[in-house]
Order: sequence, then structure tokens, then C-alpha cells
Amino acid sequence: MKKTSKQVQLSKGGIPSLSERMAWFREAKFGMFIHWGLYSILGRHEWVMNRERIPVKEYEALAKKFTAEKFDPKAWARLAKESGQKYVALTTKHHEGFCLFDSKLTKYTSVNSPARRDIVAEFVEAVRAEGLHVGLYYSLMDWHHPDGANCLHDLKARKRFVDYTHGLVREIMTNYGKIDYLFYDVPWPLKPNGWDSTKLNYMVRSLQPQILINNRSGWGVEGSLMPEDFDTPENSTRASADYRDWESCDTLNGSWGWNKADKEWKSVPNLLGKLVSCAGNGGNFILNVGPRGDGSIEEEAISSLRGMGDWLKRNNNGESIYGTERVNTEWMNFNPHGTSATAKGNTMYWHITRWYGKELWLGGLQMKVRSARIVSTGEKVKFKQTFKPTERLHLYDLPVNPPDKDMTVIALECESKPSQRLGAGHVWVDGVQ
Ligand code: GLC
Repeated sequence: MKKTSKQVQLSKGGIPSLSERMAWFREAKFGMFIHWGLYSILGRHEWVMNRERIPVKEYEALAKKFTAEKFDPKAWARLAKESGQKYVALTTKHHEGFCLFDSKLTKYTSVNSPARRDIVAEFVEAVRAEGLHVGLYYSLMDWHHPDGANCLHDLKARKRFVDYTHGLVREIMTNYGKIDYLFYDVPWPLKPNGWDSTKLNYMVRSLQPQILINNRSGWGVEGSLMPEDFDTPENSTRASADYRDWESCDTLNGSWGWNKADKEWKSVPNLLGKLVSCAGNGGNFILNVGPRGDGSIEEEAISSLRGMGDWLKRNNNGESIYGTERVNTEWMNFNPHGTSATAKGNTMYWHITRWYGKELWLGGLQMKVRSARIVSTGEKVKFKQTFKPTERLHLYDLPVNPPDKDMTVIALECESKPSQRLGAGHVWVDGVQ
């Protein structure tokens, strides 16, 4: 068959299998999301252009104020590392349409702003230098491009806009070396076949054979090759189907882009609880930072992230997160202790944010426990297992105060793979929950 210049060829080596490509991501568990753009100059949430109906011309003028004078990608990457995050993803273009990279297809870029910098290039280099994996976010929806909305009904507009989209994605997948992860966002107003998503992602994979692609270039639409590699629940740690990889994205306060009036910072134990819940359900947790317009990061954000990093590094609490697997527990909605559990092989890590003093009980265990220890102190814990015959674990002679102020982890070394069943009734009747 004759090849047109537009056809994409797969790289010689072909595409590694899903589990090969996923290996680092499944181990990593925790990443950093960064939302930065012109909206950060206003400091009123990244949807400000739409929510306040700012006309394109007026909004565009913000590009002249994009100086990025405090943009320090090395500091961002170091912060991610100190926070225990293993990868970082940056918004290369959010819904506002402003590109943080050099482009041959538009002048609406950071390189043409007073900053005169290719933010993506500097970001990628800094993240790589810290030994972290590199992620790029790209919003398909575009409020700035003249065809960004009327591409829905006007076929010529659609052709122009889809070519533009494929062209920009090609640029970010070509100009910055190896990219580990691509996070598409909001496919409004087209459906996957409108975007030509199959071809788009075929191109991405031909340029970056090892890349992981999220599910937002067309969710599960019949007949398409979607939903790509991993699911992306937002502000929720609900697991995807057990044959799907997933990552929950969340914010430190209530918005992704910098919002100077939003002071509702989530506490460190709350954020750790989300991380545990993701890991225990077989997913990852990517936590967002929204730098100010000048590129600096608020103290509150830094201290929440450092708090998480301290906990992860503190005497190996990280052992209960990195490389853990989906654990077969009956999810603890009515859970007295605060959070849930993760597992690795036959070890179950029980995460506790509410400490009751010298004794603790855990119900529903289906396996025998061989030994128990407090992860952050290494201290052995005494225990007894009773009731049918393993369902009631009683830990005793524990320290009166929580050994770890944010969240204490107890590792239970078990005889078989950890599993817990509770159900709604007080006991299980065979075959009835
Ligand atoms: C959304 C929002 C957006 C944010 C994103 C992060 O869909 O539109 O502003 O970038 O979620 O997942």
C-alpha cells in the first residue's frame, strides 16, 4: 500500500507490553501534578477564563505579564523528590490554550511571552536530573483557538483544529526526549473519532513507545481503541475494575491552578489516608501543586508536601506504600481506626490515624498472622487471634500514645495472602454476606 507522508509508522523496536510499560508506575504509587499557566497570574482558579466569561482578547493580554521570574524547575523537582513523589506531570497547555513550550504552530506560548523560556524543556530536564519520571499534561479542550468550539459543527474548522491538536501533541512528544506519561484532559467538544484519537495515540506511541497514556482522549467509546492505559478518577480514591491500572488526582486545597483565596488546606493525615487508600486499591495518587504566576510555591503547599515526604521517609513508612499491591480487604467504611491497608506478598500494612491507646482490634481477617510490628519504630507487637478462628485480631501492650503522630503503620506478617471480609452482618453465613 502506498504510504502518505501523514501516516505514522511504529518505532522499530515496537511497543513494550502493558505490564512492561507499567512497571515503574505500579511501583511508584505517588506523583506530583503541577498546574501552571496564565490563570496562575490571576490566582482565581484555572477555570477563571470560563467561569468569569473573560473575552479571549482580554485574557490573551495576560501572556504579556508572564515573566516567570521565580520559576525554578530544579526547586520544583527537588520538592517532589523530598515529598516522596516518584514522578511529576506538568500542564503543557491547559484549557486556556497557552502553551508552556515552543511551538511552530502558535505564537501563544511562554517563549513569546516576556519570560522567553521554554518551560517544558526546563521542567523535563530538571525532573529527569532528580531521577524522577516525566509526565506531560495536555488539554484537548481549548478556549483560545478560534476553532476550539465550532469544530463540533463546522467540518473545516474541525480539520484545522484536529490538525493543530495532533501537531502540538507531536511537538511535545518529539522535542523533549523520553516522556514517560501523557495525561490528556477534557475532550470537549468532540468524541474520540472526532479527535481521531486512535491515530493520535498511535502517533504518540510511535514517538514514545514506552509511554503511558491516560483515559481522557475518549473514554470507553464503543469501537475505539480507548480507554488507553490507566483511569483517572478525580478527587476520589475509588478503584477502577481490577484489570485496570488507575491513578487518582487530587488537590492540596480546593483548586488545581493557584487560587490565592483558597486556604482550605487538607491535613497531612488526610492526604496520607488518600495515598494509602489508592495504594491499597491498586492505584496511584497524584497530588497537585498550583504555583503562583511568578512560579513560586506557597509555604502551605510546601509544608503539606514535606509533611508527606517526612512520613514516607520516617523509619521506612514508605515500605508500606511503594511497590504495594491491591489488597483484598473489605473496605472499611465504618472503620474506627481512620484508614485502610496495603499489602506486599504475605505482609499486610495496617494504617491507623486514630489511636486508642494500649489495645487495638481488627476484624474480619481470613488468614493467620505470624508476627506484628510497628513499622516506624520496628517494635514487635503482641497479639492474639480468635473467633472463627482468625477473624478477631487483638493487639495489646501497645504504646499509649501513637508511635507516629500522622499515621501509624502496623505490619502484619501473615501465613498467606492478606484478605479481610466483614460484610454487614455480625458473622458470615456460608454463601451469604
Ligand atoms: C479537570 C479540570 C481541570 C484539571 C483536571 C485535573 O478535568 O477541568 O481544571 O486540570 O481536571 O485532573
